[in-house]
Amino acid sequence: MIETERTLLRPIEKEDNEQIFDYRADSETNKYQGWIPKTLNDVNEFISKNPDEFNKPETWFQLVIIEKSTNKIIGDIGIHFIDSDNHQSEIGCTLNKEYHGKGFATETMRATAGFLFNKLDKHRIVTSIDPQNIDSIKLVERLGFRKEGHFKESLFIDGEWVDDIVYAILNREWK
Ligand SMILES: CC(C)(COP(=O)(O)OP(=O)(O)OC[C@H]1O[C@@H](n2cnc3c(N)ncnc32)[C@H](O)[C@@H]1OP(=O)(O)O)[C@@H](O)C(=O)NCCC(=O)NCCS
Repeated sequence: MIETERTLLRPIEKEDNEQIFDYRADSETNKYQGWIPKTLNDVNEFISKNPDEFNKPETWFQLVIIEKSTNKIIGDIGIHFIDSDNHQSEIGCTLNKEYHGKGFATETMRATAGFLFNKLDKHRIVTSIDPQNIDSIKLVERLGFRKEGHFKESLFIDGEWVDDIVYAILNREWK
């Protein structure tokens, strides 16, 4: 569906469950994420909720990132088609820890944003990040996103109020 130099991105499938569980259940690496599966069944449920249709307003659609050279799933990218008239999207990336620090997130998030702007003609892409998630902040700044706001204790995650930083980029700002 989306191809980069080292990866292929395609919709998540039932058979991906074990590979996804492997890295998504890593609660230390994913401590800033809202969803951490405890069982394989949690992942099965997550996969079953993926919409049948891509680019459907007011849904999250999950893609997996496959390393071409090994055919392994190395992470995933979620796309939120936010608004009912479908001009804005939100994106987020999770990589298997073994694949951090190799540029895979930059490569695949750049291709995803390019696809949303150039093929789907989105107007604006946003991303929501915990201020302590430095790697994620570096990633979106590398892609040219602008910091738009820091929301104090605006999200209630795991019994705790946490801050949220919103970064965004407009279609005309994308190069
Ligand atoms: C957010 C996340 C995907 C970022 O991953 P990452 O590995 O830091 O980002 P990239 O894959 O783009 O790699 C960039 C790093 O690889 C280095 N690198 C090595 N080879 C590279 C190459 N060929 N191309 C580009 N960068 C390369 C870069 O210099 C950079 O290193 P630095 O951070 O020390 O400056 C990762 O930390 C993660 O999965 N976290 C857990 C989930 C999460 O919190 N997601 C955020 C939800 S909003």
